[in-house]
Amino acid sequence: MKNSIDIVQAAERLKQGRLVAMPTETVYGLAANAYDDDAIQRIYVVKGRPSYNPLIIHVASTQMAQTLVHWNETAQQLAAACWPGPLTMVLKRRADCPVSKLASAGLDSLAVRVPAHPVAQELLRGCGLPLAAPSANLSGTVTSTSPQHVIGDFADQDVMILDAGEAPIGLESTVVDVSGVEVRLLRPGSIDHSQLEAILGAKVFRAGDDNHQPTSPGMLTSHYAPKAMLRLNTTEINPGEALLAFGAPLDGASTVVNLSEQGDLVEASSRLFSALRELDASGARYIAVMPIPNDGVGEAINDRLRRAAAPKPRP
Ligand code: TXA
Ligand code: MG
Repeated sequence: MKNSIDIVQAAERLKQGRLVAMPTETVYGLAANAYDDDAIQRIYVVKGRPSYNPLIIHVASTQMAQTLVHWNETAQQLAAACWPGPLTMVLKRRADCPVSKLASAGLDSLAVRVPAHPVAQELLRGCGLPLAAPSANLSGTVTSTSPQHVIGDFADQDVMILDAGEAPIGLESTVVDVSGVEVRLLRPGSIDHSQLEAILGAKVFRAGDDNHQPTSPGMLTSHYAPKAMLRLNTTEINPGEALLAFGAPLDGASTVVNLSEQGDLVEASSRLFSALRELDASGARYIAVMPIPNDGVGEAINDRLRRAAAPKPRP
């Protein structure tokens, strides 16, 4: 494990098929050369990620994305408005797409994103490769938004960390399927549903809308799970519970972490994962979570909290 901002060395490692923890504007990614089957396989092994859960391919530019997937007008509109930035688009793979099929996990589609973080941009340009990168945390656990989180999860692994401090947004990208006529929101994220509809001037479908069941293989019921048990939408603290607060905190908890004292959803979204890790580190076993409005990025916060609170599968 090595910590620094040596882009040249990181690019060299990627070309050797090794892994690099890359800061992005959303969260830290565990990056590998997207052309290299063995390197992609290593991501699945190191994370303990189920092989049916496909990976996002990070590219330096829209032009690079167009060489991998069948581009269309919707993709063009969203890329023009959101890239570089926290939006991932799922499109059909081109027949000549050189990205490892393991990254698509058996699907005929590929998720692509142009990250905005300057270090991610430098790395992508420095190595000249598309990079497959899931979030840099053990599968099913809380997403990493800082180098310290990455170190905690992968201390014994051959992973070089590019240390750029806290990820500025702190919540994963929004994932949309734009491969068909209808646009489908697969994972709510930092670009919210109403922003997508405003950009496109068209309806963006969610799971459950008009019998549409958009699914992403990675949207498992239990995910983002801290060690503690979560109780959502609480208005009273039970004895022994720590509190994850939003706005003015409820009385009665000895341990309190506040997502946003001002009740600001964007601030809350940026603190969510580090707050869950902080509460775990405090030794809390039960966490009461105050209600979070479902507006704007609140939809993504509530999505993550529901999965964090879901019963964990037995090991
Ligand atoms: O912000 C982010 O998106 C971060 C940074 C590192 O870019 N990455 C990230 O990756 O969150 P990950 O692997 O933790 O989540 C990727 C999500 C999963 O839910 C996965 O199932 C979905 O994207 N996904 C990837 N490829 C897909 C595909 N071809 N079709 C449908 N969903 C896909
Ligand atoms: Mg993840």
